[in-house]
Amino acid sequence: MPISSHQHKAIQAAFQPGRQNFAENPYGVYALLRELDEPFYYEDMNAHLLSRYPDVDGVARDGRMVRSLEAFMPADYVAEQQHLANFHDMPNHERFVQFSMLERDGELHRRLRMIVLQEFTRSWVAQYTSMIQQTVDKLLDTLLEKKDIDFIADFAVHIPSYVIGHVLGVADEDCPMLRTWSENIVQYFDADRSEARKQLAEQATTEFALYLKDLIAQRGRRPGKDLLTRLISARDAGKLNEDELISTSMLILAGGHGSTIDVLGNGMLALLNHPDQLAELRNNPALAPAAVQEMIRYDSPLPFFHRYASVECEVMGISFPKGTKFGLLYGSANRDPKQFSDADRFDTNRNPNRHLGFGRGAHLCLGNNLARLNMEITFSSLLARIKTIELRQTPRFRLGLASRGVRELAVRLG
Ligand code: HEM
Repeated sequence: MPISSHQHKAIQAAFQPGRQNFAENPYGVYALLRELDEPFYYEDMNAHLLSRYPDVDGVARDGRMVRSLEAFMPADYVAEQQHLANFHDMPNHERFVQFSMLERDGELHRRLRMIVLQEFTRSWVAQYTSMIQQTVDKLLDTLLEKKDIDFIADFAVHIPSYVIGHVLGVADEDCPMLRTWSENIVQYFDADRSEARKQLAEQATTEFALYLKDLIAQRGRRPGKDLLTRLISARDAGKLNEDELISTSMLILAGGHGSTIDVLGNGMLALLNHPDQLAELRNNPALAPAAVQEMIRYDSPLPFFHRYASVECEVMGISFPKGTKFGLLYGSANRDPKQFSDADRFDTNRNPNRHLGFGRGAHLCLGNNLARLNMEITFSSLLARIKTIELRQTPRFRLGLASRGVRELAVRLG
C-alpha cells in the first residue's frame, strides 16, 4: 500500500536528525518507518530510506548496490552530486577520504581490502590482547583516583587512538592528534555540512596526510613490526600506490575511532540503565563477547550508510532507476521485531544476534574483530576493578544521523 499523507506527515515531522528529540530517541521514528511497505524518501539527503532488516541486509549484500557513483555515472553528473553534497573544493579530502577503500567498489575495492584483511582476522588481532589490557589498566589506574568522572572524556576517548595507533605503528605521544583529526574528518559525513566544518575536515585531512607521509618515509628507512610497515611492503610490491597507502592508513585510524568511543559510551549507558544485566556481566565475565555484540545492536554507533543502485533495481517490490541513492538504516534494522525477539530490550544473553551494527556484505567493518576485542577487555576490566558505577545525570546524545553517541556520561565511581 502506498504511503498515506498522514503517515508521510507524521514521519516527516519526527525524522529530524538535526533536532534533540530525534537524537534522544530515534527508535520511535524507526518503528514508524518499518511500518511502511516502501522506502521513505528523505529529501535532505536525496535518499530512499530502508528500515526493515531484510531490506537493509538485502541491499548491503547486493553487488549491484555500490558506494560510489564514479564507476557507472557520467563525470558531470558525479561532479553535480558532489557539489550538491558540498563535497567539492576540498582537494585533500577528495583525494584521501572520498576515494578511500570505503568509497570504492568492485575490483578496486577488493584489491585494497585484500591487502589488509589478514591483519584484522580474529586470530591475528588476538596478539594485541596484552597491549589493549595494558592500555586499559593504565587508564583505570588514574580513573580509580577519582570519584566523579565523565566516562567519555576521562576514559573512552583515550582507548581507540592508542589501540589503533599501536596497531598501525604510531608513537604513543602522537595519538591525541589522531583523535582530533579523525573527529573532524568523520563529522563531515553527517548532515551538517557548514563551511566551518568543511574547513576543519579539509585541514584535518591535510595535516593527517602530511603526518602519514612523514611516518611512511621514516618507517621505510627503519621498518617495524606494525601494519604500516606491511602496507609499505605492499606498496613496494606494486599492490597499491602512495595515495592509496595514505588513504588506507587514514581510514583505518579514523574509521574505528569515533565509533569505538561512541559504543563504549552507549554500552556503558545501556548497562547503567539495566543494573540486573550489569550485575550479571560483573559476576560472569564469560558473557562479555555476547554483551558487546548486544551493545552494538542495541544502540549502534554508526546507524546509517548509503548505497547507489549501479543499474535499475527492484527494492521492496518497486523498480528504481540506476543512480538511485538508498539510505541503509542499520540502527533501525537492528531493532526490527521481525528479526529480533523483544527487539527494544537490552539483553546481554541474546543468542543468536546477527545484528547489522558492523554492516553487511562487501563493506562489512574491517575492524570488527579488533573493536570487539577492545570492548570485551575494556568492560571486563572496568567491572572487575570498579565496584559501583552510578549515573549522575541523564546524558544527552549528539545531533545527527550518521553517528550516535552521548556528548558526555557523568558517573560516580565507588
Ligand atoms: C564498534 C566499533 C565499530 C563499528 C560499530 C563499526 C561499524 C562499521 C560499519 C557499519 C561499516 C560498514 C560501512 C558500510 O556499510 O558502508 C564499517 C566499515 C569499516 N570499518 Fe568499522 N566500525 C567499528 C570499528 C572499526 C575499527 C576499530 C576499525 C579499524 C581498526 C574499523 C575500520 C573500518 C573500515 C576500514 C571500514 C570500511 C571497510 C570496507 O569498505 O571494505 N572499524 N564499520
